[in-house]
Amino acid sequence: MLLKTNKLMKAFGGLKAINKVDFELPANEIRGIIGPNGSGKSTFFNLVSGVYEPDPGSYIEFDGNDITNEPPHKVGELGLARTFQLLRLYQDMSVINNVMSGYHTLVPYSFIDAVTGRKKIWDQEKTIKEEMMELLSFVGLADYAELNASELSGGQRRLLVLARAIAGKPKLLMLDEPAAGLSPVNVDNLMKILMRLKEKYGLTLIIIEHILKVVMDTCSKVTVLDHGEKIAEGTPSQIKDDNAVIEAYLGKKMDDEEMRKALAV
Ligand SMILES: Nc1ncnc2c1ncn2[C@@H]1O[C@H](COP(=O)(O)OP(=O)(O)OP(=O)(O)O)[C@@H](O)[C@H]1O
Ligand SMILES: [Mg+2]
Repeated sequence: MLLKTNKLMKAFGGLKAINKVDFELPANEIRGIIGPNGSGKSTFFNLVSGVYEPDPGSYIEFDGNDITNEPPHKVGELGLARTFQLLRLYQDMSVINNVMSGYHTLVPYSFIDAVTGRKKIWDQEKTIKEEMMELLSFVGLADYAELNASELSGGQRRLLVLARAIAGKPKLLMLDEPAAGLSPVNVDNLMKILMRLKEKYGLTLIIIEHILKVVMDTCSKVTVLDHGEKIAEGTPSQIKDDNAVIEAYLGKKMDDEEMRKALAV
């Protein structure tokens, strides 16, 4: 397994945000995580990526390493990258330099050294820049490379966040609602990019997504959280037919027709 959690737990005061979650993800899979608002999806990412410290008794393993109590930079060095639900970009930095920053979080010299040229690494930088430009073309942002991130549209910023997360060639990429706020055309575009990414870079992905179409069309398996607990797991079609999921996720019982409509968003 590339990622494994055992009895993963995190309480905030009396609230069990993640409650004894066992999770296993083999390499080369695209996994979806769904669940109602506040069900613990982002907390799960924050625990796995080292942003939050899990409660005692929890265990997290990534690529054969015990990462239960490792900080984010350590987890990143091992090859785990993630995006945040709220976009985090260097607004005043150019598009290409934002992508380069994603590369440099995973290589052993600082980005600031690189941009200020304090180290004699320009040849190396040039190759990296070419590679990063290729990545920008891949997500359709090559023409915007020299603009500031703040000059991009909302959808373009989402693509930039994605490009930056891939820049360090992670073994596992975790995306927190990558399609939020995108128009239907851009959602389709994003889904194509995700599928191509998997083919080209052999990435393993975990996608948290409210737009069920994205999850249903892109993921081979889906994990469902409700009140911090894993309530179901299976292929998209298994999940669609799971009564617990229908009740928890959609908040009420639905007949088949309503369900089909809701899941075909
Ligand atoms: N740092 C924190 N401090 C206190 N409570 C928190 C913290 N982070 C998350 N929580 C709580 O944990 C629960 C799960 O939150 P989380 O953000 O993981 O939900 P989510 O499934 O990602 O929801 P959404 O779909 O709205 O993004 C919520 O009740 C939330 O208020
Ligand atoms: Mg969330």
